[in-house]
Amino acid sequence: MAGEGWEAVDDYQVQRLEALFERDPDRLAGLSLEACGIYFDWSKTHLDPDLIGRFAAAAEAKGLAKARDALFSGDIVNPTEGRPAEHVAERGTGAPAAVGLAAARRTRMRALADAVEAGAFGEVTGILHIGIGGSVLGPALLVDALGRRGSRLQVRFLSNIDGEAFDDAVRPLDPATTLVVVASKTFTTAETLANMSAGLDWLRSAGVGDPDGRVIAVTARPQAAVEAGIDETRVLQFGEGVGGRYSLWSSVGVSAALALGWSAFEELLEGAAEMDRQFRFAEPQRNAPLIAAFADRLYVRRFGCQTRALFAYDERLRLLPFYLQQLEMESNGKSATLDGRPLDQPSAPVTWGGTGTDAQHAVFQLLHQGTILVPVEFVAVAEAEHSLGPDHHRSLLLNAFAQGAALMHGRRGEGPHRSYSGDRPSTTILLDRLDARTLGALIAFYEHRTFANAVLLGINPFDQFGVELGKDIARKLDQGGDDEEFDPSTLALMERAGV
Ligand code: F6P
Repeated sequence: MAGEGWEAVDDYQVQRLEALFERDPDRLAGLSLEACGIYFDWSKTHLDPDLIGRFAAAAEAKGLAKARDALFSGDIVNPTEGRPAEHVAERGTGAPAAVGLAAARRTRMRALADAVEAGAFGEVTGILHIGIGGSVLGPALLVDALGRRGSRLQVRFLSNIDGEAFDDAVRPLDPATTLVVVASKTFTTAETLANMSAGLDWLRSAGVGDPDGRVIAVTARPQAAVEAGIDETRVLQFGEGVGGRYSLWSSVGVSAALALGWSAFEELLEGAAEMDRQFRFAEPQRNAPLIAAFADRLYVRRFGCQTRALFAYDERLRLLPFYLQQLEMESNGKSATLDGRPLDQPSAPVTWGGTGTDAQHAVFQLLHQGTILVPVEFVAVAEAEHSLGPDHHRSLLLNAFAQGAALMHGRRGEGPHRSYSGDRPSTTILLDRLDARTLGALIAFYEHRTFANAVLLGINPFDQFGVELGKDIARKLDQGGDDEEFDPSTLALMERAGV
């Protein structure tokens, strides 16, 4: 790590949070910013402007400017798979050729959405969206966050191979008026293909005349979808350069676009593009994704934190922790650097979380008094849309703010069991309102924060070879290979379960 600028970060004398506020009366102004309708507050973290400067220098030494330019220019930033990362092109901020291609594919997606609306599929009241990981978590988040009032269709998401999940997903749907959207970048994912076949059987057994004709496929490999029996007019392609966990901006978002309306989908992309510009052009001291990444690294490197927790103080964002788990852990859960050396610092921490205030009554005990330090992120929305109005919403927000204050200040003097050490860091992210534009910006913020973390780590955030081994062994078990190939514990489990 010598010469990479980390010494200046690692040697920095970190102070208690309360002392940081006492020392700098302007702390809040320096450690908070507003971008894209979102207010970010890092003042309750151990960052200060000087430390941000040191992190910025470390990031520069790690090639941040070059890496960021490469991302937006469509250069190869995913060298292990030899391709660019083109999710930014989906919202118009990538390389011109990729932006043009994404726009052309979006035009096709829109034509299909218009055809659905115009009745080309007869009456449509519901969508069964089948996909897993990046092919489902994004659309599910969008529909759950934005589709509570006025969603035009009932959208159910099916990912797990568990038949209970299938039963749950189809229960409220009417097979006669349901479209099946099958999203899979590779179109080889076992769970998705098995669920597609179960979905077709479900339509067939309900007497739907042409079940295949009710399927829309979304994939980077259109040929595989056609070979699976889906007519090419109903195959929406997206680029190989768009990673699964970065794909909701592409035609993977078609179910959300159908449910929320086309203009909402476009606003989502515009919000993300605005955050792209913030990440690309804002100086480090005012750059939201960068500062967040600096805080992430601070707590992993200096404080040894192995997890970070995110609590959505808004029911509409209850799926955000799940979405971020994949984004952050699949991207940055790596142990080899870009040039193949062992990573010499801890990789991404475990991302976990839940919703407030529920989590306060379940897991916050450990956050306040446990011996394990967990940096906490609160995400809340200032404007209420629910039927109970602003007064009711006030309690929710005050709870979020109180938790951040309690973690920071702690309380002493009432005996060990009733003492709180305080000095526990938190970040607060406050959206003015939850609409498509702001949600787009928020998700793009997390993408760039993940990318910035990867640059600081010197790793490739865009591959995910770690998920392959388990798939491979499951395939071998299914094919019933030579018993000697498998360990006695695995064989005994199979025998016991009768599989
Ligand atoms: O197994 C991991 C993974 O490849 C994810 O990266 C991806 O989002 C998910 O599976 C689904 O893959 P696909 O879209 O190809 O079905």
